[in-house]
Amino acid sequence: MASKHMLVAVAVAALAVAFLPGLAVASEHVVGDDKGWTLQFNYTAWSESRKFVVGDTLLFKYGSSSHNVVEVGGVDFAACTKPAGANTWSTGEDRVTLHKAGRRWFICDIGEHCEKGGMKFKVTVDEAGALPPNGPPAPSNPAGKVHAKHFGVAAVTALAAAALVL
Ligand SMILES: *[C@@H]1O[C@H](CO)[C@@H](O)[C@H](O)[C@H]1NC(C)=O
Repeated sequence: MASKHMLVAVAVAALAVAFLPGLAVASEHVVGDDKGWTLQFNYTAWSESRKFVVGDTLLFKYGSSSHNVVEVGGVDFAACTKPAGANTWSTGEDRVTLHKAGRRWFICDIGEHCEKGGMKFKVTVDEAGALPPNGPPAPSNPAGKVHAKHFGVAAVTALAAAALVL
């Protein structure tokens, strides 16, 4: 019976999804959480407390008349300088997609907000689903993965039940 074959195929597909290693769920990170992109916030500590993977998005939120976001290199980050032609965002609600693994650096180049106000943000982007270097899989994995797995199991259970009924 064709419909039964299809059910089996769907169940197999659901199983495959459930057990795909490191099924990544892209996250949006509001830089600075509820403080946003602002003066006197320790963005180093903030970014070290999180994990960023390829496909995630950064959201910089701030008053557009007070600040901006400029992407720089490591040297300009250290010096709080803006090179000619640097990517600049200034809407006050700027989304930046982390499309590849590696480091990226952002500063606010208004006044001395970078030098004195601490508006400098460095992010290290990991490959999606990558294991931490020299370590076992992190136990503190994003909840999204667990969710996806539970969803897969639930889907398989539901399909198995459907197959019995049909
Ligand atoms: C910000 O936090 C980092 C990491 O916890 C710390 O090393 C650094 O001294 C802090 N910077 C400031 C300006 O407080």
